[in-house]
Amino acid sequence: QSLQRLNACLFPVKYKDTYYRDAVLAGSYTKLAFYKDACVGNIACRLEETGPYIRVYIMTLGVLPSYRRMGIGSKLLQSVLGLCQQDPRVVDVYLHVQTNNDEAMEFYKNFDFQIVDTIFNYYIRLDPPDCYVLSRRLR
Ligand code: ACO
Repeated sequence: QSLQRLNACLFPVKYKDTYYRDAVLAGSYTKLAFYKDACVGNIACRLEETGPYIRVYIMTLGVLPSYRRMGIGSKLLQSVLGLCQQDPRVVDVYLHVQTNNDEAMEFYKNFDFQIVDTIFNYYIRLDPPDCYVLSRRLR
């Protein structure tokens, strides 16, 4: 419920049941951030297993506007990167970001994410509809 409420404030997309199922199945790869008693941020991942390998897909990472630039987003991402480093099956972490999202691009650059692809018309209801695929390889 906290995740649902946060996402409604943060993202222009309504998430389906599968998003919440995947987020829960990802265990500690999905986290909420609290500031005092308030839930102010989240990172939600999906673990994609193929054979012996796991790709970690970041479905959402967001912090409420009044709590940005305080290091909360970095803490959430660092905790996931830490889990990835501990699991030798994880080969990379990747995500989609809308091409005009300069804040997110700056943010992910700090963590050595690279643009590996551009997908045109990825989003149905957003303008621009295009996204970059950002990836950080682990091994
Ligand atoms: N402009 C430029 N650089 C930025 C910005 C910004 N608005 N925000 C973060 N950065 C960079 C800076 O280098 C910053 O370090 P500094 O504050 O010392 O200069 C660094 O990232 C770390 O910032 P944090 O404080 O850790 O990040 P924050 O808690 O503000 O969260 C986030 C960043 C998650 C991108 C936030 O802006 C947000 O919630 N945006 C809306 C949702 C969103 O776009 N999420 C990502 C979409 S992609 C996806 O979800 C998979």
